[in-house]
Amino acid sequence: LNFQPTTFITSAPDIRQLPADDGVEIAFAGRSNAGKSSALNTLTRQRNLARTSKTPGRTQLINVFEVLPGKRLIDLPGYGYAKVPLAVKEKWQRALSEYLEKRDSLRGLVILMDIRHPYRDVDQELLHWATASDIPVLVLLTKADKLKPGARKTTLLQAREAALVFGGDVTVEMFSSLTKIGLPQVEAKLSEWLMT
Ligand code: GTP
Ligand code: MG
Repeated sequence: LNFQPTTFITSAPDIRQLPADDGVEIAFAGRSNAGKSSALNTLTRQRNLARTSKTPGRTQLINVFEVLPGKRLIDLPGYGYAKVPLAVKEKWQRALSEYLEKRDSLRGLVILMDIRHPYRDVDQELLHWATASDIPVLVLLTKADKLKPGARKTTLLQAREAALVFGGDVTVEMFSSLTKIGLPQVEAKLSEWLMT
């Protein structure tokens, strides 16, 4: 599947304002600053499709992109960022959990974690939720360029081991938007999810 022609569809503050819940959707979730928006840009070969930022909490809305008619990618608001006002945080955590619980077209969840500190609390919660709901998961250990090849490999193997605890359909890969390491694996998994 060619991801390059992906276009922006809409930004929604809650699930009522999303496109009709049919077709197939893959959502990108993870802590603020984990590299969700960067990964979407890398995948689609577009510099500014999803807005990225050095400031955590940049993506506060559910952003919808279309690869093909009825085949969508979703950039979810990041979680776990302490410094935003509580009211804002609550609003977007509600949007996130609502999306995950109610969206029928959700066919796969990409959970992005900084390779230097994977499986933080909320990451684990999300993994438990996804496997319990029979949603396949792709864990991406992002910013892999931050570690040397040896450390990277060790972390990947440990993370794969740790993923077994959650049961269900969980695949773990490393990824870097900078060096494009892991990009072929991401493309393969997302193509599989979108086309079946
Ligand atoms: P929120 O929208 O706040 O939830 O963040 P996000 O998960 O969308 O992260 P974003 O893609 O905006 O990236 C956050 C920061 O990490 C930016 O400064 C990016 O340039 C940087 N970054 C993202 N991916 C990589 C990567 O693969 N390698 C390195 N070195 N930096 C990265
Ligand atoms: Mg973002």
